[in-house]
Amino acid sequence: MLTSHDFIDPHSVPRRRLHTGAFMPGIGLGTFGSDRFSAAEIAASVEGAIEVGYRHIDCASVYGNEDSVGGVLAAAIRGGVPREELWITSKLWNDKHAEADVIPQCRKSLADLQLDYLDLYLVHWPFPNFHPPGCSVESRSPGARPYIHANFMKTWRQMEKLVDLGLVRHIGTSNMTAPKLRLVLRDARIKPAVNEMELHPHFQQTGFFEFLRSSGIQAVGFCPIGSPTRPDRDRTPEDTADIEDPVIAEIAGRLGVHPAVVCVKWAVQRGQTPIPQSIRRNEYVSNLRAAVSPPLSDADMRAIAGIDRNCRLIKGQVFLWKENQSWEDLWDLKGEIAQ
Ligand SMILES: NC(=O)c1ccc[n+]([C@@H]2O[C@H](COP(=O)([O-])OP(=O)(O)OC[C@H]3O[C@@H](n4cnc5c(N)ncnc54)[C@H](OP(=O)(O)O)[C@@H]3O)[C@@H](O)[C@H]2O)c1
Repeated sequence: MLTSHDFIDPHSVPRRRLHTGAFMPGIGLGTFGSDRFSAAEIAASVEGAIEVGYRHIDCASVYGNEDSVGGVLAAAIRGGVPREELWITSKLWNDKHAEADVIPQCRKSLADLQLDYLDLYLVHWPFPNFHPPGCSVESRSPGARPYIHANFMKTWRQMEKLVDLGLVRHIGTSNMTAPKLRLVLRDARIKPAVNEMELHPHFQQTGFFEFLRSSGIQAVGFCPIGSPTRPDRDRTPEDTADIEDPVIAEIAGRLGVHPAVVCVKWAVQRGQTPIPQSIRRNEYVSNLRAAVSPPLSDADMRAIAGIDRNCRLIKGQVFLWKENQSWEDLWDLKGEIAQ
């Protein structure tokens, strides 16, 4: 395989050891098009990202582009990238939690991605409430339910079966809370290797992050840059912008990088696995370089720890199951699973 001038040796990228003993590349590329970027643009970003040294790609069936990404993965493997160097994640969407749906849905993602196995398969949200991709945040599913642990475990048993069948190497959760995960940890035969969650300087989730660390679950951080291109439906007037924070901007200015790069560096150094998205080569190269360049100083890490605004951007309103409910109910802020 020929290497490009902006190639970063994947072996120099920090890795995270999972409870299974396997290693996950400590930064990945996001593939959610945010209603802005087409499947072809996302696939092109995956192609470019692998060319410059990314080995971890965060996919999901609901992103509507796995079949395009699959062609790129197959070409990369044919072109000499060893399959075992790649870390490919996919996710089970909310309308496929039924026991009979989990394995076929995973097989569908495998077929689209042109792979024999996934490195990681996540339950995308802990709620089975279906809503069509791209719908308004005001939309509610008539069959919406709160988190029902017995039902989640039925889905999880099928996820465990995927590991038994060799279709998936690791399974994990996404958008979970500590109260929900405590129950899963109690009842799982195969415990989650990862929880994928929103993490950026203005939303550090420190308590939950430490809970995951002490439970041997790796945190994968989405929206690591504060998702400046997120869909309009995911914006509220209270939202803050990480890349405009004076602390982030000052560090960026001093280092001569974009504030986005400081967010990525902070994430890698803190120990979560960020999955920044970009279709722009200069951006995804800078994000990967952020993971291998000299670390932020302790003072800079402390300064960033001090700018948490508890600002959740992806609130999940479409999963609410009762009238006049607040989105906070989805996140069990009182320490119990909201019903
Ligand atoms: N599990 C879940 O429920 C869940 C939820 C949300 C997201 N995710 C995953 O997380 C990934 C990342 O989240 P996200 O895409 O919402 O947000 P993000 O990675 O925080 O932000 C992406 C945007 O940041 C800008 N950017 C990226 N790198 C940059 C750089 N070096 N310099 C300047 N700007 C830069 C780009 O905007 P411009 O194009 O304007 O430059 C890009 O569109 C998604 O793609 C998806 O794979 C998972």
